[in-house]
Parts: sequence; structure tokens; C-alpha cells
Amino acid sequence: MKILLLGKNGQVGWELQRSLAPLGEVIALGHAGAAGLAGDFAQPESLAATVRAVAPGLIVNAAAHTAVDKAESEPELARAINAQAPAVLAREAAALGALLVHYSTDYVFDGSGSAAWVEDAPTGPLSVYGATKLAGEEAIRASGCRHLILRTSWVFAARGGNFAKTMLRLAAERDRLTVIDDQHGAPTGAELIADVTAHAARATLANPPLGGTYHLAAAGETTWHGYARHVIEAARARGVPLKVAADAIVPVATSAFPTPARRPANSRLDTRKLRHAFGLVLPAWQQGVERMLDEILPN
Ligand SMILES: NC(=O)c1ccc[n+]([C@@H]2O[C@H](COP(=O)([O-])OP(=O)(O)OC[C@H]3O[C@@H](n4cnc5c(N)ncnc54)[C@H](OP(=O)(O)O)[C@@H]3O)[C@@H](O)[C@H]2O)c1
Repeated sequence: MKILLLGKNGQVGWELQRSLAPLGEVIALGHAGAAGLAGDFAQPESLAATVRAVAPGLIVNAAAHTAVDKAESEPELARAINAQAPAVLAREAAALGALLVHYSTDYVFDGSGSAAWVEDAPTGPLSVYGATKLAGEEAIRASGCRHLILRTSWVFAARGGNFAKTMLRLAAERDRLTVIDDQHGAPTGAELIADVTAHAARATLANPPLGGTYHLAAAGETTWHGYARHVIEAARARGVPLKVAADAIVPVATSAFPTPARRPANSRLDTRKLRHAFGLVLPAWQQGVERMLDEILPN
């Protein structure tokens, strides 16, 4: 089977290059495309020729406009990448009978309440990013293609920049850090997302009724403050010299850091549907974070 992977250089895309390899021949494209195949989501219709040329049995889309604040000032580009391009992939997947795997986000919800969101809870995005990601989901569902839409949250990876690395850098420079403690969610490793994707895609190829929308996040929950504290304590335990002590990380409200995009306060995702449908276990968020720290910190 041919597998078309789009967005191969992102956090999740990079890990998918590894996790999809045992499932078939992976044709992996970044922004710039390769071998005459277009990969630029800012030109949504150009992707149709790519899908037709490869004729895959499985399409995995890890490309997205993920710059949440920037999206507020470039909504047309965010819409092209997050909604129109996935719509073209879905149309072409339907024509081929291919399975389309696509990622979405907790930002499709309005963040109200404190209960974990289930898949069919009412959506209410607060930002251009959230609204365009929701439009992408809706286009895929409306296309009639076989699909898996996996909504995830607070993605991190050893490769590229991330919140944990920013906290470690700041903790080496400053005596005191202020971090938001009124947004709740689960940091989820790109490795876990990619591994679950391979299992779920394989199961859905064999059993098409498994297709649908699922929540995929690590187990447990924290706040950005709790996440920062965990990272700094773990780094100290590994002997990394840091100026800031874990209890000099000051919890503050979201309002202390005004940003162009509003973010949901409650990003908890209920993952029962995914765990039951595919018979999978989702480990605690700390497990993935520890592994990432082992990779990025000196021994
Ligand atoms: N990051 C999070 O915290 C988070 C949370 C919830 C859901 N998600 C979802 O999870 C999925 C994977 O996210 P991620 O964290 O792996 O994102 P990421 O690291 O930001 O990677 C996104 C990828 O999209 C590519 N891309 C951007 N503009 C493009 C364009 N015009 N054409 C083609 N490719 C383009 C980027 O390529 P270049 O590097 O070449 O620009 C990059 O490789 C996305 O659907 C995202 O919405 C992410």
C-alpha cells in the first residue's frame, strides 16, 4: 500500500515518518513538495494532482497553520491551510476510496466548564485557528471519504521548539518565572500521536466502520504552570544548573499575558472512545515529557 504523508517536517509529521513505515511505502512531502509533487497547502487545489499521481490507500495529513496568534492576522492563509486544503484531500480521498487521517485540536471548543470534552460535545472556537481547524473537520466529514479525525492537545516533541525548552531556557536565565495556571489540558507527545495513528489507521483499513472523530491525548491533566514545574524539577533532578527553583515559578492568570488569540481554559479531552474502539492505552503525560527530557537534556 502507498501512504501519502503531508507535513512531514512538523512535530507529528516527523514521528509519522517512523511510525507509518511498517504499514507501507511512505511518500512523505513537506511544504516544498518533491519529485514534481506539490505539497503547499496555501495552494489547496495543487494538492489534487499530488493525490492523483501517488494514488495512495492511506493519506495522513500532519500539515497545519499552527501559529495560533499569527492566524488572527492572516485568516485567509489559515483557512486555506487548515480548511480548504483538507477539503481537497478529502474530495480526492473519496474519489480514490482512500482512508484520510487528519489532526484537529481542543481549540475547536470554547473551553467552558471543567469536564473533559467528548467528541460530540458542541464546538465553539475562540480563535481563527480553532475556527479554521473546525472548518477542516467539517469539510472532511461532509466529503463522505473514509476518515479518522484525531483531535489532540498541547503537542510537544524533542525536535523543534516547544514550551518545555522555552521554560528550561528561561529558568537558566532568570530567578523567577510567571506561568499561566488557569488553562487545563494534557501535554501530548508527537511520538504517542504518531504511534496511535499507525495502530488506528491499520485497524480502520481492516475494519472501515471504525472511521470517525476521536480524541487523542495523554492521560491525566495539568496546567501550563504544573507543566513548567514538572519540567524544571525533572531538569534539576538530572543535575541541570538552573537559576530558578521550582517554587519560584509563580502561577498567574491568562489575563497576565494578553495575546491576539483567545485560548480555551478547559482543554481536557475525554479519550474513552478512542481507547475502547482501538483497544489502546494512553500513558500519563509525564511519561512522554520525561522521555523528551531524556532526549534533550545532557546525561
Ligand atoms: N502543536 C500543538 O500544540 C497542537 C495542538 C492540538 C492539535 N494540533 C494539531 O496537530 C497537527 C500536527 O501539529 P504539529 O504540532 O506537528 O504542527 P507543527 O510542528 O507546527 O507542524 C506543522 C507542519 O505544517 C506545515 N505547514 C505549514 N504551512 C504549510 C503549507 N502552506 N504547506 C504545507 N505545509 C505547511 C509546516 O511545514 P513548514 O515547517 O515547512 O512550514 C509543519 O511541518 C496539526 O493538525 C495541528 O493543528 C497541534
